[in-house]
Amino acid sequence: MKWYDIFSSFYDLAIEPVYKKARKQGVEALWLKEGDLVLDLACGTGPNFKHIMPVIGESGLLIGVDYSKGMLDKARKKVKKNNWKNVVLIEQDAGKLTTSEIQEDCGKPIAVDNIICVLGLSVIPEWEAVLQNMFELLAPGGSFIIIDVYADKRVFQTWMVERIARADVSRKSWEPLEVLSKDFELSYVSKKRWLHGGLLFLAHGKKG
Ligand SMILES: C[S@@+](CC[C@H](N)C(=O)[O-])C[C@H]1O[C@@H](n2cnc3c(N)ncnc32)[C@H](O)[C@@H]1O
Repeated sequence: MKWYDIFSSFYDLAIEPVYKKARKQGVEALWLKEGDLVLDLACGTGPNFKHIMPVIGESGLLIGVDYSKGMLDKARKKVKKNNWKNVVLIEQDAGKLTTSEIQEDCGKPIAVDNIICVLGLSVIPEWEAVLQNMFELLAPGGSFIIIDVYADKRVFQTWMVERIARADVSRKSWEPLEVLSKDFELSYVSKKRWLHGGLLFLAHGKKG
């Protein structure tokens, strides 16, 4: 059993108050419109969904990818509760995901125009390979958003966050995106190190 299968039972309670604002900002940075397709990488319990679904509407498509069954079970409950018909959840290691697998799960040919990854790349062990793989799946002109924590200096909270989330917040996970994409932008959502264990950043790049 993965740590996140266990963490799933109290994840929303522990995490949501701290990251709610950042998620909203991340989704806004995608400039989504009705009918858009969004892939939520390492979607976990689906806390981004409530920000994405009202914008893409019933004609859009949201694909959530995560390898933890426990986390996805919580996401499934949110989907059912909200009666969202256009959400596809894929239980898979994001490093191994292929376009044909996504299309098979969606039941139709699709173009991934938007990818959002919140607090995923600091956790995924093979994060560089995953980022590379997901960027390859992105359609030309598509947007890739990362929201994550980077500890430029270590405080007590850094240690706490790394243990609780099984994360490595020393990663500069925006750097490969900067190399791969065009119109790259990096900004800080919050500099409250005492709350996040580091700087909470938002990185945005487009596929050329
Ligand atoms: C800190 S949680 C973030 C969840 C969610 N994105 C959020 O905003 O709260 C990290 C997630 O990454 C998932 N994860 C870790 N490694 C993964 C991999 N190789 N493939 C897919 N998901 C992975 C975990 O199962 C967990 O749900």
